[in-house]
Amino acid sequence: MTKVTRRHMAGTGWKMNLRAFEVPGYAQRLLQQIGTGDTSAIDLFVLPPFTSLAAAAAAFGGTPVAIGGQNMHWEEHGAWTGEISASMLVDAGCRYVELAHSERLQHFGETYEHVCSKVDRALATGLTPILCLGETAEDRRRGGSDDVLAWQVTTALAGQPAARVPDVVLAYEPRWAIGGSEAASCEYVAARHATLRALLRDRYGADVANRTRILYGGSVTPRNGPDLVALDDVDGLFVGRAAWDPEGFAQIVAEVADAARAKAGRSGS
Ligand code: PGA
Repeated sequence: MTKVTRRHMAGTGWKMNLRAFEVPGYAQRLLQQIGTGDTSAIDLFVLPPFTSLAAAAAAFGGTPVAIGGQNMHWEEHGAWTGEISASMLVDAGCRYVELAHSERLQHFGETYEHVCSKVDRALATGLTPILCLGETAEDRRRGGSDDVLAWQVTTALAGQPAARVPDVVLAYEPRWAIGGSEAASCEYVAARHATLRALLRDRYGADVANRTRILYGGSVTPRNGPDLVALDDVDGLFVGRAAWDPEGFAQIVAEVADAARAKAGRSGS
């Protein structure tokens, strides 16, 4: 078995939930719960709505929990009513920005061509993009999942030099598993993550493929978390509903930390 040294991650996107006044209470409960476990080996993040970023920056400042935006524009400034730039996210204390979430693609007409420009801007501004990838139920039905993933990752990372790629966190989130009642099966997730890893290897070389983190998201819960994050190519979990309750998120954080320790301790082959 191969030793995995990629730093694992546990994170949550709050979507359009948790107003500013609710953030201190969430943070206090979360930090209290994770304070008792050893999470030093993993990276933690929460992605609040824009108007809750200031409250989150205050509540999580000086803690291991980093914050990020759920979207951004690809331009630095200009006549883009209703949009937020990468620098504005940095000003608000963000380290991360989520890009290409299924709900952005589905409801707001975002495309991977837009996402490519956003990845570029985010990296240039010092933000770590969390780049969502995933096939629809229809893609899956016609057996096209891997082709869709290849197209998405190729389009979103077009123009990036290999050295930049490990600065992007990939999040495999099958679109049919988001907001549903069940995550994808471990077998299915293992196959898609292996495809993504192989794609990175072919395109950018083994070193980049070994260093780039690939998270799984889509109906993750404290119950299915341990099996999913135990998979070799799954470098962490990206959680929606189950983490809007801080106790649920804390449980998943502990599961990711356990898995990271177990994988790092494996003997190399
Ligand atoms: P879910 O959301 O965990 O509620 O399915 C995941 C996501 O949208 O990233």
